[in-house]
Amino acid sequence: MRILGLLTAVAAGIWGATAIGADDIDPNIIIPEKILGSKHDFTGLNRRAGVAAMPGLAFSDYGTPCIYCHIPPDEEEIGSSFMGGIPGWNRFKQAGDSFSTYDSRTLDNKVRTPSSISLLCLSCHDGTMAVDMTVFKPDGWDSAEDAALHLKLNGADDLESCGKCHNGNAAHSIAIKHIGTDLTNDHPISMEYAGLNFKDQDFRPPDTPFGFNNGIKLYDNRVECATCHNVHNPDVKLLLRVGAEQLCETCHIK
Ligand code: HEC
Ligand code: HEC
Ligand code: HEC
Ligand code: HEC
Ligand code: HEC
Repeated sequence: MRILGLLTAVAAGIWGATAIGADDIDPNIIIPEKILGSKHDFTGLNRRAGVAAMPGLAFSDYGTPCIYCHIPPDEEEIGSSFMGGIPGWNRFKQAGDSFSTYDSRTLDNKVRTPSSISLLCLSCHDGTMAVDMTVFKPDGWDSAEDAALHLKLNGADDLESCGKCHNGNAAHSIAIKHIGTDLTNDHPISMEYAGLNFKDQDFRPPDTPFGFNNGIKLYDNRVECATCHNVHNPDVKLLLRVGAEQLCETCHIK
């Protein structure tokens, strides 16, 4: 709901995609426009890549970049959950027990299912759903404008996958961005942060209930994809919140 309120506030300007100047601002503050021109700007990919085959054939160009993740302002009140959406986001929940989450003997907190904010990322990055598979389409969307294909972010060589072209030959390989549903090799997510209340001496206590002063963020005391990544800030490599050299030590003491 937090996000929705703010979205409404900025809606007038941004959904019409106008830019405001914004340079020296706190890294925690979100400047929605910064997503424009980044890899998550699905309305701009075609123009930048110069490949007419991407939107229009590979995925639907909804004309506004926000809608691929956020619920449009006029649908905020209803929300997406009743249509099988991830609570608070314009994306569908993965079916059933899709994910194998990271586990090890030494983990303080075990996780069975990722939280909503990480399900959001996985709704594209697990490669099981099309990148344009949103719960709500833009107001007045004409299904005749729908793309011929609705490709998924994975490296497979078929007409369901961006890998058809993104194989390292026709275009850069997309395989590395495809995380899949097996998260056992990735950093654990959606567990309570082990450094809360000095519980585990191997972790630094957070500076505030929302995380660390350098921008690393906790969500309801948990570590999520968005703890380390900020899709709204393409200034740091791989959309990280802080450079890789400082990232791990923000939390891990050894
Ligand atoms: C790839 C998915 C994605 C796209 C596309 C996207 N956002 Fe976001 N947005 C997020 C995530 C994730 C957060 C939460 C980030 C955080 O907690 O720091 C967020 C947060 C926000 C917030 C702040 C909400 C808060 O509670 O602090 C605003 C405002 C916002 N987005 C607006 C926009 C606008 C406007 C657009 C289109 C120009 C857009 N977003 C495109 C994923 C996206
Ligand atoms: C936001 C804080 C945070 C950051 C940043 C972070 N970690 Fe973690 N990491 C954790 C937490 C919390 C756990 C789970 C600890 C537990 O519950 O026992 C964890 C677990 C791990 C584990 C598994 C340990 C085990 O016992 O199985 C590895 C490996 C790891 N982190 C490596 C890294 C690396 C490498 C980086 C930098 C790229 C990093 N972490 C950044 C918080 C963080
Ligand atoms: C609507 C689909 C979609 C959603 C939702 C989404 N992503 Fe992505 N993401 C992509 C695509 C497409 C790329 C670019 C793939 C490529 O160029 O190889 C990408 C690229 C990335 C990259 C690599 C950026 C780079 O510079 O190479 C990171 C990191 C990333 N996403 C993290 C996230 C996180 C974290 C979230 C959730 C907050 C998220 N994504 C949500 C589609 C999505
Ligand atoms: C018909 C072939 C084709 C298909 C299908 C295709 N792409 Fe592309 N894409 C390209 C080419 C060619 C480029 C430009 C060269 C490059 O970046 O490797 C490109 C570039 C990109 C870029 C980089 C653009 C930038 O400016 O940063 C992203 C991100 C991307 N594609 C995502 C996708 C996603 C996601 C899909 C599936 C939904 C997809 N593409 C499907 C051919 C294709
Ligand atoms: C503890 C911090 C941390 C968490 C949590 C985290 N990442 Fe990352 N991510 C990184 C770092 C560091 C890199 C770059 C080094 C690497 O590839 O491991 C990265 C790389 C990526 C890449 C780009 C791969 C490439 O090399 O182009 C994507 C996509 C991505 N992460 C998505 C996600 C998603 C989705 C989640 C949640 C399921 C997530 N990340 C959780 C730290 C994190």
